[in-house]
Amino acid sequence: MKEIFNRRSIRKYQDRPVEKEKVEKLLRAAMQAPSAANQQPWEFIVVENKETLNKLSLMTPYSKPVAGSAVTIVLLANTDNFRVETSWQQDMGAAAENILLEATYLGLGAVWLGVATADSAIDFIKKSFDLPKNIKPFALVSIGYPEEQQNVTSNRFDAKKVHYEEFK
Ligand SMILES: Cc1cc2nc3c(=O)[nH]c(=O)nc-3n(C[C@H](O)[C@H](O)[C@H](O)COP(=O)(O)O)c2cc1C
Repeated sequence: MKEIFNRRSIRKYQDRPVEKEKVEKLLRAAMQAPSAANQQPWEFIVVENKETLNKLSLMTPYSKPVAGSAVTIVLLANTDNFRVETSWQQDMGAAAENILLEATYLGLGAVWLGVATADSAIDFIKKSFDLPKNIKPFALVSIGYPEEQQNVTSNRFDAKKVHYEEFK
């Protein structure tokens, strides 16, 4: 699938909105992801408000792309839906990757911004949205029409990382 190989993190966007239909396609792609015991732990906040985007961009030193995005999706997990508690981050990762691949397919640019990777970022998102205790922040995905950098092929295949039958 060419989108897997072309996808890159796109951090600069045109000042142009993303169509509602495309945002819905991104969310449909996210919710189509596999999850442990089909627990589908995800919840999403779709943010297009410029003031909120500017505020969210201050989450970490690495979350500046949010400010210029047309839309940023906040990926959250709802602990009420957990059946296999230990796998929620893997489930959410699959949903995040689906968004990135669908964005590439739709001619959009996107970047995954880690939240669950740092306690300070988790607290920032909890406070920003006044989240209840059962809702765990996972990541942001910022999206827009790409400026300059496009999704381009980068070959990362490394035969040395593949082991057959045993590890050596
Ligand atoms: C868990 C995770 C957290 C990430 N956090 C950030 C981030 O905070 N800021 C950012 O600009 N990119 C972030 N990225 C994107 C990576 O930097 C990027 O995927 C990596 O450099 C490879 O580049 P590519 O996506 O263009 O292939 C994150 C990616 C993952 C999977």
